[in-house]
Amino acid sequence: MIKIKKAKLSDAKEISNLKRETFERINGKDYTKEQIKDFNNLNTVNKLINNIKKSGNWKRKIFCAWKGDKLLGVIDLERNKIGGLFVKHGLIGKGIGSKLLKFIEDYARKKRISKVYLFSTKFAFDFYSKKGYKLIRKKPTKNRFTNLKMEKIL
Ligand SMILES: CC(C)(COP(=O)(O)OP(=O)(O)OC[C@H]1O[C@@H](n2cnc3c(N)ncnc32)[C@H](O)[C@@H]1OP(=O)(O)O)[C@@H](O)C(=O)NCCC(=O)NCCS
Repeated sequence: MIKIKKAKLSDAKEISNLKRETFERINGKDYTKEQIKDFNNLNTVNKLINNIKKSGNWKRKIFCAWKGDKLLGVIDLERNKIGGLFVKHGLIGKGIGSKLLKFIEDYARKKRISKVYLFSTKFAFDFYSKKGYKLIRKKPTKNRFTNLKMEKIL
């Protein structure tokens, strides 16, 4: 059974490893070495610890999907911005991403958020389209690794 729980400080290392591994193995082909480095720098254990510590009120909240003690995927919400949806690289295409996305949309609805947005990777664009997200801005930027801004009315 998959359980989705708010991230704890002790989860930071596993979250960091999962995000960095999935980005390199699954998204790596779409990005330059510098962009991969930027991504890794944004997802160090220390950065994640800070994000988890600051997760009060409207600050970014990170949630993890677990099966027993195995971390399957992560997602976060900061105000009405969804971020950091990553599934463990060997478990892609098994419904974990859908579960996490539905969880965060339901969580946002409970907070009376009526519209959410995100920046999709190239890889995830068709996934989000299937889930009802519409492209609202496609801006070519130099060193950003996500430039496909998408939104959904909840
Ligand atoms: C994008 C991602 C989160 C989706 O999670 P997932 O667990 O692999 O997706 P699911 O198994 O829930 O798939 C749900 C549906 O989307 C489809 N789908 C998933 N990824 C897809 C993709 N890249 N392109 C097209 N369709 C995709 C599945 O076929 C499935 O369709 P179905 O319901 O008709 O069978 C996951 O693949 C991932 O972590 N990718 C790498 C990191 C990434 O790019 N994250 C997005 C950051 S913005």
